[in-house]
Amino acid sequence: MANAMSFEEVTKLDDTFVMPTFKRKPVCLVEGKGMEVTDDEGKTYLDFIAGIGCDSLGHCHPAVVNAITEQAQKLIHVSNYYYIEKRGEVAKLISDMANECVPRFFRAPWKTFFANSGAEANECAIKLARLWAKKESSGGHIIVVLEGSFHGRTLATLAATAQPAKQEKFAPLPEGFVAIPPNDMDALRNIWWEYPGQIAAMMVEPIQGESGVHPIDPDYLFEATKLARRNGALFIADEVQTGFYRCGTWPFEFQNAAITPDIITFAKGVASGMPTGGCIARIEVADAFEPGDHGSTFGGSNLAMAAALATLDTLSKENFGQRVEEMGDYFAEKLLALDAVTDVRGSGLMIGADIKEEFKAPFVVEAGLDAGFLLNATGDHTLRFLPPLIVTQADIDKLIEALPGIFEASKQKEVEAAKAAQKAAEEAAAAQKEYEDLLKEAEGLNADFKDVMNMLKEKVGSVEGKLGDKLQAAAVEKLSGAQSAPSDPASDASAEGTKNSDSAKDAE
Ligand SMILES: Cc1ncc(COP(=O)(O)O)c(C=O)c1O
Repeated sequence: MANAMSFEEVTKLDDTFVMPTFKRKPVCLVEGKGMEVTDDEGKTYLDFIAGIGCDSLGHCHPAVVNAITEQAQKLIHVSNYYYIEKRGEVAKLISDMANECVPRFFRAPWKTFFANSGAEANECAIKLARLWAKKESSGGHIIVVLEGSFHGRTLATLAATAQPAKQEKFAPLPEGFVAIPPNDMDALRNIWWEYPGQIAAMMVEPIQGESGVHPIDPDYLFEATKLARRNGALFIADEVQTGFYRCGTWPFEFQNAAITPDIITFAKGVASGMPTGGCIARIEVADAFEPGDHGSTFGGSNLAMAAALATLDTLSKENFGQRVEEMGDYFAEKLLALDAVTDVRGSGLMIGADIKEEFKAPFVVEAGLDAGFLLNATGDHTLRFLPPLIVTQADIDKLIEALPGIFEASKQKEVEAAKAAQKAAEEAAAAQKEYEDLLKEAEGLNADFKDVMNMLKEKVGSVEGKLGDKLQAAAVEKLSGAQSAPSDPASDASAEGTKNSDSAKDAE
């Protein structure tokens, strides 16, 4: 389907009217099917980032499209004031998923709060943990997080995102978040001594995604849940990126790590790209909330629930856990065999690959676009792969075959970018010089203007002076003439002032 606007028109409008919070790639994507997306000129790309891990079933999966279409024709949104179809069904499916592979003692109904994004899901988890601590435990409010974490961009979730570079510009952030280094058992044990009775929860991504796919040791996670429980605090697993089979075998990554959280947050992969997120908690924790404690206008809307139900139904019925495990292993092995790749991390289809210093990941992404692949860089030398969970060996092979060429082309991209940056710097310097010259010229003109004004003032002053002298002389002359005239009744009047002398003149 051709876009009615040209690429230039689209980018100009976007750049002019949309806030510059993302540096966009120079492509306008208009269609998608399965692993592929198509741009406005008909060029296709194999998608290895899937809307940052959201499009679990690939683009426009028929089950999801049908579910959304049917729901859109029936009812789109009515709010959380009312019961609707599917919301409870989705929540039960998620509860069942959370109970998989969990020791019987911890198995329980889990209750979900539906939101629209990962950040909102985490906001809910933070509020719930603090409320639960007030009602049921120490009353502590501190949330312990890990350095390098990413929990969202709202103020509270940014405070939980222990990356100073992201936080500093927005200080002051809400207090009550303490970061410790990941996988450091001593720091983990000490934190409970440092803040006795003050910790409400520990919040952890089982695999840190945004910072470059860094898995947290299962032993560390196990110790963290144990210590949290022993100290009357909760353990929150942020599964926004890792959830719903992204990491293979089980629906959530905490199950791969064999731990049992009290609260789990999710978003991204739950509804194949329909904005949906949520916070689920074991029933005894979830029931700390009462009506009015938390809410969302859109969360859990009819359309989102239709998309989530179709996605989760398909994922669980078609044994995606197994598939993702196999594809993930295959992909990781192939990546590691590449000469340019120095390390591969992750689980299932959440894979991070470090590349040699000579290659820069952002330019690899650019070169990938030229070669027909959507890739993602999380650092100067780190690529992150989050393909749709339907990715096949053939798709992976295509990318692996293309990658050596893409790495080489990335060097040329870097040279071009350096040239473009130099040209831009020269243009900026020329513009600055032109501005400064104009400024000087303006200053010169201003000085000339001041001179002219001063000269005029002087001239006007002397003219005024001369005029004044003349007027004064004329007045004096008139006055003296009037005083020498014969004395009669009119002379008294004329002595009173000019008006009378003027009337005398009229009388002439
Ligand atoms: C682990 C994790 N938590 C939270 C978020 C925030 O999610 P959202 O961008 O939907 O607010 C992200 C987003 O990348 C994430 O990866």
